[in-house]
Amino acid sequence: MSADHPNVPATRVAEHRVVVTGAAGFIGSTVVDRLLALGAEVVGIDDYDPWYLPARKQANLATASVHERFSLVEADAFDVIGDVLRPDDLVIHLAGRPGVQDSWGLGFTDYSRRNIELTQRVYEEALGVGANRVVYASSSSLYGGSSTSDNRRAAPISPYGVSKLAGEHLANVYAERGLNIVSLRYFTVYGPRQRPDMAMHRMFEATKANGSVFIRRGDGLQRREFTFVGDVAEATILSAVAPAAPGTSLDIGGGESASLLDAMALVEELAGPMRTETLPAPAGDPRATAADLQPTIDVLGWVPTTSLFDGLSAQASWHAVQPDHDMVIELG
Ligand SMILES: NC(=O)c1ccc[n+]([C@@H]2O[C@H](COP(=O)([O-])OP(=O)(O)OC[C@H]3O[C@@H](n4cnc5c(N)ncnc54)[C@H](O)[C@@H]3O)[C@@H](O)[C@H]2O)c1
Repeated sequence: MSADHPNVPATRVAEHRVVVTGAAGFIGSTVVDRLLALGAEVVGIDDYDPWYLPARKQANLATASVHERFSLVEADAFDVIGDVLRPDDLVIHLAGRPGVQDSWGLGFTDYSRRNIELTQRVYEEALGVGANRVVYASSSSLYGGSSTSDNRRAAPISPYGVSKLAGEHLANVYAERGLNIVSLRYFTVYGPRQRPDMAMHRMFEATKANGSVFIRRGDGLQRREFTFVGDVAEATILSAVAPAAPGTSLDIGGGESASLLDAMALVEELAGPMRTETLPAPAGDPRATAADLQPTIDVLGWVPTTSLFDGLSAQASWHAVQPDHDMVIELG
């Protein structure tokens, strides 16, 4: 992906200060790097939530942290968002607790706090200060299993999906009050810096000598619309400046469907044989997901440009230089 990607109007992004919550995470740090390349002034907020290694997140920000147009507020966004925001800021709200499996049981407390209560606070402060636009990181999880049907609708099948849908309901409520907000429903994001609980990260680590074992959940025929993180960053930044009605929700998908077995085969082609074990499919795992990209194309003029093979190649290169097996998390 070149720094002068035609999709994003660089001058419009550089006109604003951009506040990115969850800046040190997988998607957040990729968005930050891209914003800096486009000439924006960026303020990141991240509390280094310890559910996966903070050192990993510090590494994500290694380049940004020495950039003159970047600063990081290392704190819970709930506590500091009101002090950080200024009138006319663009706000990219990515902070949250991702992952389906931990959202069952007592784990939901953290999802409620980080995905619902924090999101309401960000909207409240953005409305109060007069932010230019808020982009909310929603999720394909809110569709449950319905995204491939003729009757696709918000029908989550996990507590995580419920928490992300709550963020969209809140977005609609605040849009009614005048907040300029767009929600993006990301479909299974992959690529360099991918979270250690996510399937492709665990697959690559299971190809390393002395690495972990990839635990495949279910028969491997579950299908996902996998979306490359560089494409997600482009869509996210574009949605911060593109004309869009407040309260708009858009699918952000990679345009290519693959089964888990397909993905495993590609990873083995790129990185070598993988150690695997199989367990039953977990609760809250949809059989298939598929994005409807036409409304996204109509509003943003954005299309994904990275094939699954090219995106996995980039992820393979990243894993090849990571410390061995420091970072695989099995959930549920
Ligand atoms: N990765 C995906 O496939 C995917 C798919 C759909 C939606 N999303 C959403 O995108 C967002 C980013 O996901 P990710 O995969 O990059 O996850 P991530 O865990 O790598 O990033 C989230 C970041 O937010 C930070 N954070 C959490 N709570 C915070 C708080 N209260 N204050 C400040 N920082 C806080 C964490 O420390 C972390 O660095 C999440 O909201 C997630 O729900 C991700």
